[in-house]
Amino acid sequence: MSGAGVITVDGPAASGKGTIAAGLGRLYGLPVLDSGLLYRAVGVLLQQAGGDLGDEAAAVAVARTLRPEALDNDLFRTRGAGEAASRVAVHPQVRQVLLTLQRDFAAQPGGAVLDGRDMGTVICPTAGAKLYVTARPEVRAERRWRQLTGQGEAVSLEEILADIRVRDARDSGRATAPMAPAPDAVLLDTSEMTIDQAADAARRIVEAARARQAP
Ligand code: C5P
Repeated sequence: MSGAGVITVDGPAASGKGTIAAGLGRLYGLPVLDSGLLYRAVGVLLQQAGGDLGDEAAAVAVARTLRPEALDNDLFRTRGAGEAASRVAVHPQVRQVLLTLQRDFAAQPGGAVLDGRDMGTVICPTAGAKLYVTARPEVRAERRWRQLTGQGEAVSLEEILADIRVRDARDSGRATAPMAPAPDAVLLDTSEMTIDQAADAARRIVEAARARQAP
């Protein structure tokens, strides 16, 4: 596995990592994988089929049917989808099925930007540049609340903050691929940053990582 052209952007929900990953993709002309969508799709499709999120075998069967081109669907961007995603993401066999798909994406000739929780630790440990994006839970809750209410969901800021705390605990407490910065990831706290400032800080981190690798 090479990965020199790969940029990994990990971190908790609503930390700004999705926006940062998309911006880096545009800047460097790289394809971007939002790996959270894979878990969201498994959770939502399983629920639609009447399945139980705790049923690992049923979740694995759904994961095997996923096609990357079918992921761009608003159904997967709701509050409920995020919760369902984190519940199917605890199943080791679901993660195993999704591993190949993610590694194939990372192996594209020119490189790729990978956005998720375990991109720098599990999916592409050899990535040339790794970021771990964080922000205070209150800041993340407000961002997510604005996004969801903008999409028409009726939900309070307090409910979103509670969701975020539950999700953080589940994602970092699970036995397989827990959410954690890779030892060689650079931490970027976006709590006090505008989108432009965060994008600029991310670009500088990537450029510093690439300069270190240059022969
Ligand atoms: O990033 P997003 O909020 O879309 O992720 C939804 C959920 O999917 C996360 O809370 C996490 O449980 C799971 N996930 C994961 N590994 C990834 C990406 C997402 O476990 N690489």
